[in-house]
Amino acid sequence: MQSLTILGATGSIGRSTLDVVARHPDRYRVFALAAQRRDDALYEQCLRHAPRYAALADEPAARRLADRLATAGLDTEVLGGPSALAELAAHEEVDTVMAAIVGAAGLASTIAAARAGKRILLANKESLVMAGEVFLRACREGGATVLPIDSEHNAVFQCLPSAGRAGCGCPGVRRIVLTASGGPFRRASFEQMGDATPEQACAHPKWSMGRKISVDSATMMNKGLELIEAFHLFGVAASRLEVLVHPQSIVHSLVEYEDGSVLAQMGNPDMRTPIAQALAHPDRIDSGVTPLDLVAIGRLEFEAPDAQRFPCLRLAREALAAGGAAPCILNAANEIAVAAFLERAIRFTDIAAVTEAVLHAVGERRAGATIDEVFAIDAEARALARDRLGRCPA
Ligand SMILES: NC(=O)c1ccc[n+]([C@@H]2O[C@H](COP(=O)([O-])OP(=O)(O)OC[C@H]3O[C@@H](n4cnc5c(N)ncnc54)[C@H](OP(=O)(O)O)[C@@H]3O)[C@@H](O)[C@H]2O)c1
Repeated sequence: MQSLTILGATGSIGRSTLDVVARHPDRYRVFALAAQRRDDALYEQCLRHAPRYAALADEPAARRLADRLATAGLDTEVLGGPSALAELAAHEEVDTVMAAIVGAAGLASTIAAARAGKRILLANKESLVMAGEVFLRACREGGATVLPIDSEHNAVFQCLPSAGRAGCGCPGVRRIVLTASGGPFRRASFEQMGDATPEQACAHPKWSMGRKISVDSATMMNKGLELIEAFHLFGVAASRLEVLVHPQSIVHSLVEYEDGSVLAQMGNPDMRTPIAQALAHPDRIDSGVTPLDLVAIGRLEFEAPDAQRFPCLRLAREALAAGGAAPCILNAANEIAVAAFLERAIRFTDIAAVTEAVLHAVGERRAGATIDEVFAIDAEARALARDRLGRCPA
């Protein structure tokens, strides 16, 4: 019986995780559920899964949740404040932590899980992008294991021999190819994208996801962040990481070996597959995902990514090549710009412009050696990005 804390329980990944877990009550016990402020959603999840603890980063929301659960007669203990999430990630009774908070907000609790030696199911790619070295060192020192949840990295994980999975350079591997759906603007011109609304950007053709990652998919920054994530997870040079657009989202990524063999992992585009794979590894369990019907799909297409129309992909490559603090700065500026776009304060194409301006304004900077240094760099880049937002044409 694995005891599980789900960080970001009310989000897209959190809900999919609970769906898989509920299919296997003999294997998984929900120990804690945590989110930011949506107490209504967390209340329903507590009624359904009866966790020992629930936590909300927002304290007034945590108090509302505690009152409602007490009235309902549930003995789930409610904690409030950001430190409560880290506490539940590191709790001694927890074996496995699903790290599915969106953005930089997920770093502190994910690091807490790493230091406490948990089995970490890592959806929060931003932790690795912001603090790759610091996070991996915390995992090594704490004895934590990381299982990737991003469908691409989970696919690569499944196609690699165990030595590669441990991030030691992937012996015998020539290339790792991450597939990308191309998002909702795969065929749009740069000018058309300038007029895109948040609703259009979030209408992903294949995946149902939270709003931030949906916008990242539309700009292709998501694929850029995933290149940085793959660099840290698998320990391969940036020059051996490639992106391939595959609109059907059936092939989730590929590993090419020195002998010419190419291993790919396929499946319907449903996050319950990588979640079930990581939960059960090395076993296999039912995820509830519909079996893949290749006859019905008929054809699988592939094309090269277009870095002209999708400058975020180029920016992420530049940040990866520059190293140091550049990925952390890229991530911070992108988060501020995406939030501003979702609030209709800037245009879709300004997301890349703001991010590029901040990256260049900061210039070369050593990576944060501690978590506090990482947060300081993140805060500085956010302030610069907010300043840049004011200079975007309306
Ligand atoms: N969705 C996918 O298919 C997918 C695929 C691959 C990777 N990922 C990665 O998984 C992560 C989650 O994505 P998602 O699509 O599930 O996001 P989402 O649907 O927007 O959910 C985000 C979750 O994070 C919580 N949260 C946000 N800010 C927080 C804070 N400051 N403190 C504590 N909790 C906070 C939210 O709580 P409230 O509900 O209370 O606000 C919610 O539970 C992201 O890093 C994303 O890149 C997602």
